[in-house]
Order: sequence, then structure tokens, then C-alpha cells
Amino acid sequence: MTVVVTGAAGFVGMHVAERLLRRGERVVGVDVFNDYYDPALKEARAARLEGLKGFRMVRMDLADAPAFEALVRSEAAARVVHLAAQAGVRYSIDHPFAYQHSNLAGHLSVLEACRRSDRCEHLVYASSSSVYGQRPLGGQAFREEDPVDAPASLYAATKRAGELMSTTYASLYGLPQSGLRFFTVYGPWGRPDMAYYSFTRKILAGEPIEIFGEGRMARDFTYIDDIVDGVVGVLDRPPAEGENRLFNIGDSRPVGLMEMISILEDALGRKADKVFLPMQPGDVRTTYADISRLKALTGYEPRAPLEQGLREFVAWYRGWCG
Ligand SMILES: NC(=O)c1ccc[n+]([C@@H]2O[C@H](COP(=O)([O-])OP(=O)(O)OC[C@H]3O[C@@H](n4cnc5c(N)ncnc54)[C@H](O)[C@@H]3O)[C@@H](O)[C@H]2O)c1
Repeated sequence: MTVVVTGAAGFVGMHVAERLLRRGERVVGVDVFNDYYDPALKEARAARLEGLKGFRMVRMDLADAPAFEALVRSEAAARVVHLAAQAGVRYSIDHPFAYQHSNLAGHLSVLEACRRSDRCEHLVYASSSSVYGQRPLGGQAFREEDPVDAPASLYAATKRAGELMSTTYASLYGLPQSGLRFFTVYGPWGRPDMAYYSFTRKILAGEPIEIFGEGRMARDFTYIDDIVDGVVGVLDRPPAEGENRLFNIGDSRPVGLMEMISILEDALGRKADKVFLPMQPGDVRTTYADISRLKALTGYEPRAPLEQGLREFVAWYRGWCG
């Protein structure tokens, strides 16, 4: 079976593609290798996949709808895992049109290609916990039924728009789909714009780290291997025709930002020089997933505690940065 994985040179995409290849599937990766962060990291991820049997990387902008449609058709892809996006909450303040391009036009291209193909039996796509918007610290876990009509950033708004476009395509064309609301994913080969990654770089360089929201934030830090379990578990269980299901995919054990920093300091064997700053526009205080819906479908059980996951990340980071 051929699976198309968009964003395959990205953090989550590389790990998902690798898992599929290791279980013997053929994977066609699609990525534009943009410079939102160091493209050398994307090239290295692609090279890792290209060393595995059954993989092919196609360099393409997803917003080029005819090109992506031709690819899905010519590969006779039975499944598409759509992970390409312009990610990042803070970047969306200064670069709004990057989100329109990759997350709106890009998502529409994927929908059109899948609905026009007579082979595509399941489209799994990435959404984000950011669709839930603001919630008081210490609040309840987010549930898929919760209202999601007040996104706090343009990034979140485009991710919610993607979910709604998918619902429309499921009902208009019957295309079976699953949307996954990821909660702060971390681990080896991670994204340099994320806090745990940039804190690691700065702590090792002896530079101060900036802690927004005076550190009074909490996140569900979800280890990449657990995320891949969830993505593949959902991919293997397509919904009925006409359905667009939504799932939270997180760790469901929220950790305060200061606790995360202390675990990271232990993994690095160094103390951070901390500078406390107010909340940034668009940031949310706490995100934490109710994962019962995903558990019921796939038996999903996040396994990696943050101490172990950050040790794995630090070991990879030391190798990557020499
Ligand atoms: N990592 C997280 O914590 C997290 C949390 C919530 C949601 N998500 C979502 O999960 C998905 C994967 O995230 P990630 O952390 O791997 O991000 P990433 O930035 O590492 O990967 C995304 C990839 O998509 C590619 N891309 C962007 N625009 C493209 C376009 N127009 N055409 C082709 N390729 C394009 C980029 O080059 C990049 O390699 C994204 O949809 C993101 O919004 C991630």
C-alpha cells in the first residue's frame, strides 16, 4: 500500500514516515523544505528517510493544487497523512500570509486531490490543541466536544478552518477523514522553534532563557513515539464514508513550565539563567488533553514520562550539534 505523507521533512512527518516504512509500506514524502527553521535539519531528516527501503521524497509546494493532485493520482495512494503546515503561534503575528498559503490553500489542495482520486480511502490530517483557545490555569482537560470558536492566534484559526473544510469535504464527497489535535510534541529531531529545544541550545551556550507568562503555564508534553502510535493507530482504522472524526492526541499529564525547565536542567546537568517576562499575545496558559476518544478507538496509551523523553532529546541534540 502506498501512503503519501506531507511534511515528511518535518519533525512529526519524518517519524510517521519512518514507522510506516519500518513496517513495510511504500511512502511518498512531500515537502517544500521552507526556511521557517534551519533547512539543514529538514535535509538531514529527508536523508535519513531516503536511506530506508520504499521511500521517495518529492519536493513540492502543496499549494500547487494540480501538481499535488497529479502526484496522488499517479502514486495511486490509498492513504494520505497530511502533516505539512506553517506551524508556530508567535510567527503568525508577523507572517500571517504564510498561514493562509500553507494551512488554508495547502489543506484545500490535499482535500481536492483526495476527493478526485478514486483510490484514497482515508485522509488523516494534523490539527492542533491551539484550536481550544484560552482556558484558566488548572482547568479541566480539553475534550473534543468543547467549543472551539474563539482561537487565540491566526495559526489556531487556520487549523480550525482546516477541520471545518474537512467536514465539508466529508459530507459533500464522502471522503473518510480523521483530524488529530496534537498537544505539544517533543523529542529527537524536534523543531528548533519550540521552547524545550531553544532552552536546550541556550542553556548549553550559557545564554539566558526567556520565560513567558512568568512561568505560570502548563503543557501536555507528548513524546514523539507516543504521537506516532496515535497517528498510525488512527490511520489503520478509517471511519465510515462521509465522516470527519476529531481526536485529541496528547500525554494527558500536564506539566508546569518551571517543572519542565527543572527536568531539562537535570538532563543537561546545567542550571539555566532565567529571565521572566509577561505572556506573549496568542499564547495560552494551559493545554491538556482528554484522550478517552482516541483510547477507545486505538487503545492509545502514552508511555514516555517527560524525564525519559527529555533525556532522549538531549542525547540526540548533543549528537546533532556535535
Ligand atoms: N510539533 C507540535 O508540537 C505540534 C503541535 C500541534 C500541531 N502540530 C501540527 O503537526 C504538524 C506537523 O508539525 P511539525 O512539528 O512536524 O512541524 P514542522 O514545521 O517540523 O513540519 C512541517 C513541514 O511542512 C512543510 N511545509 C510547510 N508548508 C508547506 C507547503 N506549502 N508545501 C509543502 N510542505 C510544506 C515544512 O517544510 C515542514 O518540513 C503540523 O500540521 C503542525 O501544525 C504540531
